[in-house]
Amino acid sequence: MIKNIIFYFLTALIMLIFKIDSSYSSPTIHKAIENTRDFSEPHFSVPPFEVKNAIVNNKIVETANLDFEFKAFPIGKLSMVSQSGIPTTCTASIINTQDGNIGLTAGRCLIDSNFQDYENMTFSPGFDNGTDGVLGEFPVIGYVLPKEYKESRNKLFNWGLLKFDNRSLNSSQPLQYFTGALGYDFEVVNSTNTTVQGYPNGGQFPNCMNIGYELCTWEGVSTLIPGNFTTIPIYVGDDGGYGAPYMTNFNGGLGTLYSNCGNYDGVNTLGPIYNGIEFQALLDEIMAPTFMH
Ligand SMILES: *[C@@H]1O[C@H](CO)[C@@H](O)[C@H](O)[C@H]1NC(C)=O
Ligand SMILES: *[C@@H]1O[C@H](CO)[C@@H](O)[C@H](O)[C@H]1NC(C)=O
Ligand SMILES: *[C@@H]1O[C@H](CO)[C@@H](O)[C@H](O)[C@H]1NC(C)=O
Ligand SMILES: *[C@@H]1O[C@H](CO)[C@@H](O)[C@H](O)[C@H]1NC(C)=O
Ligand SMILES: *[C@@H]1O[C@H](CO)[C@@H](O)[C@H](O)[C@H]1NC(C)=O
Ligand SMILES: *[C@@H]1O[C@H](CO)[C@@H](O)[C@H](O)[C@H]1NC(C)=O
Ligand SMILES: *[C@@H]1O[C@H](CO)[C@@H](O)[C@H](O)[C@H]1NC(C)=O
Repeated sequence: MIKNIIFYFLTALIMLIFKIDSSYSSPTIHKAIENTRDFSEPHFSVPPFEVKNAIVNNKIVETANLDFEFKAFPIGKLSMVSQSGIPTTCTASIINTQDGNIGLTAGRCLIDSNFQDYENMTFSPGFDNGTDGVLGEFPVIGYVLPKEYKESRNKLFNWGLLKFDNRSLNSSQPLQYFTGALGYDFEVVNSTNTTVQGYPNGGQFPNCMNIGYELCTWEGVSTLIPGNFTTIPIYVGDDGGYGAPYMTNFNGGLGTLYSNCGNYDGVNTLGPIYNGIEFQALLDEIMAPTFMH
């Protein structure tokens, strides 16, 4: 509760700063961010969201009433088809938002190398061992991307947000009540203990087949390249693993996301460093009731 209040307060503060700033410098937030990458901009963090609802014998049961721990599963497999008909996969994760149906993935998972949208995109939270999780798959109803990625596929901005269709849950509550959701943080420091989870195809995740079939986990220390990326020293695979969250404080189900697998440079996997103001602006855009991609 207190954390929520702090979050809303900070959000309001950030929007206020943005309004003041944009009133004399530039008309839109994208414009302001496009020209400079100012890493002194406000940082805020949002905590993870615990699972509230479990499905037991086809009925929705509050996890608070269960006598066992129900594990969160906010990470899932993203499946889509390019406009030329080629199927591909990525990893996405649900992040803690007021809307509750919002996910994060890599920018490259939202537009292809020809800057075209993918079609028939679905998200399967908790996918593992070749099988959907208990909730099945959810259609993706839209996405937002940083302008820098959308226009030039700038690697520094290789991330984006997705909105999922929660109607199949038959619930007045959003997806994150059923899966839990990752927290997020914009302060990236060097040598961060990190967990990365996803569905790499052809990658180097330890103790995992790396054939896009299993949820694979890498644990280690990420390295910051100032002004550019945060990196992990493994190959993420040709596809499947892009979009996989870099997390701190991962407890087996939930953690706090601070980057995602974005590109591979031949040695390391590069994760973009998010700008908190741009992140909040895109979040506001995708959560708007009128949002339609
Ligand atoms: C997307 O799904 C629809 C309905 O199943 C299908 O008609 C269409 O061909 C699919 N698009 C692609 C690119 O596969
Ligand atoms: C994976 O799935 C196969 C059947 O598809 C099953 O036999 C096996 O036990 C499963 N493994 C795990 C670890 O769940
Ligand atoms: C939602 O309702 C549909 C149709 O009544 C049913 O097929 C589906 O299993 C329900 N989903 C859940 C998660 O209960
Ligand atoms: C889906 O999520 C939205 C946003 O949180 C919520 O308002 C709605 O009641 C949920 N359920 C359905 C069936 O749309
Ligand atoms: C980050 O830490 C590594 C050692 O873990 C070091 O080699 C590297 O120079 C550090 N980078 C920065 C930007 O401090
Ligand atoms: C990072 O992990 C190492 C090894 O598990 C541990 O000793 C260290 O305290 C951790 N650092 C932080 C900042 O949590
Ligand atoms: C990394 O950042 C530095 C300083 O901001 C910049 O000069 C360099 O071009 C960047 N490298 C890449 C690969 O973006």
